[in-house]
Amino acid sequence: MAPRSHIAIYKALYKSFGGFAADVVAAIDQAAQDGVDIISLSVTPNRRPPGIATFFNPIDMALLSAVKAGIFVVQAAGNTGPSPKSIFSFSPWIYTVGAATHDRAYSNCIVLGNNITISGVGLAPGTNKDTMYTLVAAVHALNNGTSDANDMYISECQDSSNFDQNIVKGNLLICSYSVRFVLGLSTIKQALETAKNLSAAGVVFYMDPFVIGFQLNPVPMRMPGIIIPSPDDSKLFLQYYNSSLERDEQTKKIVNFGAVASILGGIKANYGNSAPKVMYYSARGPDPEDSFLDDANILKPNLVAPGNFIWAAWSSGGMDSIEFQGENFAMMSGTSMAAPHVAGLAALIKQKYPNFSSSAIGSALSTTASLYDKNGGPIMAQRAYTNPDSNQSPATPFDMGSGFVNATAALDPGLIFDCSYDDYFSFLCGINGSSAVVFNYTGQSCAPSSSDRVDLNLPSITIAKLNGSRTVQRSVTNVAGNETYRVGWSSPYGVSLMVTPTHLSISSGETQVLTVVINATMNNTAASYGRIGLFGSNGHVVSIPLSVILKISNDISTSIGTGSH
Ligand SMILES: *[C@@H]1O[C@H](CO)[C@@H](O)[C@H](O)[C@H]1NC(C)=O
Ligand SMILES: *[C@@H]1O[C@H](CO)[C@@H](O)[C@H](O)[C@H]1NC(C)=O
Ligand SMILES: *[C@@H]1O[C@H](CO)[C@@H](O)[C@H](O)[C@H]1NC(C)=O
Ligand SMILES: *[C@@H]1O[C@H](CO)[C@@H](O)[C@H](O)[C@H]1NC(C)=O
Ligand SMILES: *[C@@H]1O[C@H](CO)[C@@H](O)[C@H](O)[C@H]1NC(C)=O
Ligand SMILES: *[C@@H]1O[C@H](CO)[C@@H](O)[C@H](O)[C@H]1NC(C)=O
Ligand SMILES: *[C@@H]1O[C@H](CO)[C@@H](O)[C@H](O)[C@H]1NC(C)=O
Ligand SMILES: *[C@@H]1O[C@H](CO)[C@@H](O)[C@H](O)[C@H]1NC(C)=O
Ligand SMILES: *[C@@H]1O[C@H](CO)[C@@H](O)[C@H](O)[C@H]1NC(C)=O
Ligand SMILES: *[C@@H]1O[C@H](CO)[C@@H](O)[C@H](O)[C@H]1NC(C)=O
Ligand SMILES: *[C@@H]1O[C@H](CO)[C@@H](O)[C@H](O)[C@H]1NC(C)=O
Ligand SMILES: *[C@@H]1O[C@H](CO)[C@@H](O)[C@H](O)[C@H]1NC(C)=O
Repeated sequence: MAPRSHIAIYKALYKSFGGFAADVVAAIDQAAQDGVDIISLSVTPNRRPPGIATFFNPIDMALLSAVKAGIFVVQAAGNTGPSPKSIFSFSPWIYTVGAATHDRAYSNCIVLGNNITISGVGLAPGTNKDTMYTLVAAVHALNNGTSDANDMYISECQDSSNFDQNIVKGNLLICSYSVRFVLGLSTIKQALETAKNLSAAGVVFYMDPFVIGFQLNPVPMRMPGIIIPSPDDSKLFLQYYNSSLERDEQTKKIVNFGAVASILGGIKANYGNSAPKVMYYSARGPDPEDSFLDDANILKPNLVAPGNFIWAAWSSGGMDSIEFQGENFAMMSGTSMAAPHVAGLAALIKQKYPNFSSSAIGSALSTTASLYDKNGGPIMAQRAYTNPDSNQSPATPFDMGSGFVNATAALDPGLIFDCSYDDYFSFLCGINGSSAVVFNYTGQSCAPSSSDRVDLNLPSITIAKLNGSRTVQRSVTNVAGNETYRVGWSSPYGVSLMVTPTHLSISSGETQVLTVVINATMNNTAASYGRIGLFGSNGHVVSIPLSVILKISNDISTSIGTGSH
């Protein structure tokens, strides 16, 4: 993202058990002391912190100190999606990034002798063109004396000594992919070694029926191979294999393996994936303000960025993934992969605008985000763990924040919404009963009269409970040349909106205030969404999302809305 930026790495987590917040806090403090400009944190708390507000947890508080020191902090949203309020990155001074697809795909497929083609995954070469190879299931290639009494996981091909090389040699070996692979008890690498020891022409992994709808990362394979991730396709494949077996009438022993197939290579990328699309695992808002049911008036996540199937540098000595041992690059998926993209772009913004505050950098990224996928349709969000592509609908701000990062536009934002450490401090003091914990974490006392809720100058408007009418103000600062802006908006369902002024002429460096009046026209709706856009005469487009949940005026219940968004 940011060539020639310097990278400082702090170890706070361990392979076997993760880590402790205290270590993460120490790492953040050390990085701040070392003078870094940006912190990229693919780490979140693993549960909602107890207490009066989620913001008061050690990691968020350490990051507040980092922001006070002028550092931009990016945090992964967490891979706990897709249900609402599954986000584990809470605070307004943190820039929270969710994961979306990009369009690069590695599609691999197997062509069966019955002319059925099944798609799968595997960064693997294909078998020889125009040649069909005999398929042999591991369980049908056992040595004399081996049975599943010796090894009940024999079908996972983890030990070549179980098998008869004469049966496997030159053929495609069929192995089963079970949950044991997910847990690291069996590995693709080991199965490939088995296939190599037996001189197989390639390997086909079918999905054990107990692994449902599991999405696999493409795994590098040094020989022809494919994993069939769909349980339905796996069934189809096994039916073909089984129905092609010829058995001796009397002994029932297999006398001929009739099934044949060829594997088409999966090493070459194509760019046919629909993208960007919010991945099912990407954690969702609304941002939980506390460990009960209340929502914060803060938008989370802030943005989505490429996070699925990301090629990244990898230590060949690293022991964290057996499949990638010895490799210099690995392909990984998760919000952990999305956050560093944004950290890199923040470095570019910082390079262009050295005196931007942390919130100004975040504002530049947010107001310029894209709302459309590469085909011009709305960005979609997957909403289920199983068959995610048939459970999707247009992404809302609680799925994608402001949208999908646009690096080019973020480097020329036109206007920014700025917010200082003092603003965050006042925001925290405005939380009922917070003065003691604020003092404990910051060493500063809240002003005695500071119990009013502070509406931060964020590049978003989020109202967790709209009761009647609310007036919100935002101030924009021009970081480009003199420009005039026209203001437009679309109202959330059940809400009428008025923004003033509707035109503004703003000179370079100047700050102007926008007043937004938000009136409920209905009682009790689920979350609804709108946008405010500022369209500049020099081409800048500055856009912010609005998310509103309406509450009936005499409602005493504490649950959110009447349904999900
Ligand atoms: C598969 O398709 C080819 C050509 O498309 C055809 O010649 C062949 O007979 C088909 N085989 C089967 C089993 O359908
Ligand atoms: C297994 O036993 C069969 C006869 O039962 C024999 O023909 C075959 O060679 C044996 N295979 C091995 C690998 O020992
Ligand atoms: C492959 O063969 C080598 C050499 O005989 C052996 O050490 C290794 O364990 C075998 N690998 C597997 C997965 O069976
Ligand atoms: C395999 O095919 C035979 C008949 O061809 C059938 O009796 C058997 O149930 C099939 N087994 C599986 C697991 O599909
Ligand atoms: C940033 O620096 C530029 C000049 O380098 C100055 O014009 C501008 O006012 C500064 N902005 C802020 C927010 O301090
Ligand atoms: C990103 O921003 C640039 C510059 O404003 C614009 O030309 C481009 O169309 C945007 N890309 C997307 C995908 O929105
Ligand atoms: C603040 O909290 C206290 C005790 O929890 C409660 O009595 C009081 O009504 C709250 N004040 C506001 C403004 O919500
Ligand atoms: C603040 O710190 C003191 C002393 O360490 C402790 O006794 C108290 O419980 C803390 N208060 C809060 C609200 O965290
Ligand atoms: C919102 O409500 C206030 C008072 O109820 C009213 O004065 C104002 O015109 C309304 N604004 C909109 C945009 O509906
Ligand atoms: C920008 O606007 C300011 C204030 O209106 C004016 O003084 C200045 O000359 C303008 N700059 C340019 C480049 O037009
Ligand atoms: C909402 O409900 C309250 C109380 O039931 C009622 O007074 C008010 O008119 C309703 N508002 C709208 C916009 O329907
Ligand atoms: C909503 O506003 C009305 C009138 O201002 C007030 O009486 C009521 O208590 C409020 N309801 C909630 C849940 O805050």
